[in-house]
Amino acid sequence: MLRYPYFCRIFREYFSCWLKSGIHNLGVWPKKIHTTAERYNENETQEQTDLTGDQELQRSQDIDSEAMAKLHIPVMVDEVVHCLAPEKGQVFLDMTFGSGGHTRAILQKESDIILYALDRDPTAYAIAEQLSELYPKQIRAMLGQFSQAEDLLMKAGVQPGTLNGVLLDLGCSSMQLDAPERGFSLRKDGPLDMRMDGGRYPDMPTAADVVNALDQQALASILRAYGEEKHAKKIASAIVQARSIYPITRTQQLASIVAGAFPPSAIYARKDLLQRSTHIATKTFQALRIFVNNELNELHMGLKTAQKFLKPGGRLVALSFHSLEDRIVKRFLLGISMTEKFNLSVRQKVIQTSQLSSYHANKEGSSVRPLLMWELIHKKVLTPEDWDVQNNPRGRSAKLRAAMKL
Ligand SMILES: C[S@@+](CC[C@H](N)C(=O)[O-])C[C@H]1O[C@@H](n2cnc3c(N)ncnc32)[C@H](O)[C@@H]1O
Repeated sequence: MLRYPYFCRIFREYFSCWLKSGIHNLGVWPKKIHTTAERYNENETQEQTDLTGDQELQRSQDIDSEAMAKLHIPVMVDEVVHCLAPEKGQVFLDMTFGSGGHTRAILQKESDIILYALDRDPTAYAIAEQLSELYPKQIRAMLGQFSQAEDLLMKAGVQPGTLNGVLLDLGCSSMQLDAPERGFSLRKDGPLDMRMDGGRYPDMPTAADVVNALDQQALASILRAYGEEKHAKKIASAIVQARSIYPITRTQQLASIVAGAFPPSAIYARKDLLQRSTHIATKTFQALRIFVNNELNELHMGLKTAQKFLKPGGRLVALSFHSLEDRIVKRFLLGISMTEKFNLSVRQKVIQTSQLSSYHANKEGSSVRPLLMWELIHKKVLTPEDWDVQNNPRGRSAKLRAAMKL
């Protein structure tokens, strides 16, 4: 576990930087914490990291391939394959392999496809390795984060500008959510962990580290920024009060602490998109998960890597599951800066961009293309069909954006 005084210091240091920067929606703060912590721990723990990583991989190898298919139901498979439009012999990168549902669908669509399968989760990597036995020479499994994808691809001999398609199916897999010991689920009790990398980086902060170490204001900011939680202050105060008695170490302990801050009638009063009741701590869990895994920075880096490695005409498909992710994907595809103030709507920016390009066209007598790097395959975001949601309620909030690199 990360040393607490050190952890508190770096959080304090970057909390002030985060507020000043005004770009908290892209998670600059956690990025800095993560890189700083990484540097700090690099030398000290390299041996230990390798050992733990190996052990974890060994454990993961035990999953049999029959169970594989049941681990995670892939979302909007037909739409994903349709947008990627695989052709014989093409090369794809699935940046979020999970249990390989989308990968399988892509490989089954056409023959001789080569697919690089990336995931930061050692369990997913083990499944990719196993699946590669069923598709000899077609699947190349890679263990790592989006931010490491460029290096991994280069090491695997993939040159920038050579891929035909890239898929990002964001968030957690059911394998992660359903395993209590991973600590993602508020319904199943387990250690409050939430690291998608599992035990690969033993000194990186867990969700328990975050809730036990940060001051109230910082906790509230995380809940607000990454959970869009209206009651962030109240929840942060309940957390700080509870931990003064006992450290918070379990998922259900945290869920109860959050619930305890509200009257019983409020605990299941919130509704999801299917109008089903959700627990009042759901947004708290989302916020902690995004923070612990540095998800928004990772997403931005993943998109940049996808852009770099796709060939012109290559296709990017991104499935997001909450508004923070979708906003980043949308802005990236429209070429709008991530640091742009939120009160200037994306719509206004798009109008501005097209006005600017027609201004240039009129002034110079020739059409000047706006600084767009992508052509949208669908002008509007795609969402799952009703039958898809019935089969797979976890995918209900999915938003699919697809674009072709110009
Ligand atoms: C929703 S699941 C993907 C499921 C997959 N499409 C399937 O059909 O089984 C998301 C996966 O992405 C992985 N992931 C999330 N963020 C990542 C990152 N920054 N780098 C690498 N993998 C990531 C998670 O570990 C998880 O396995």
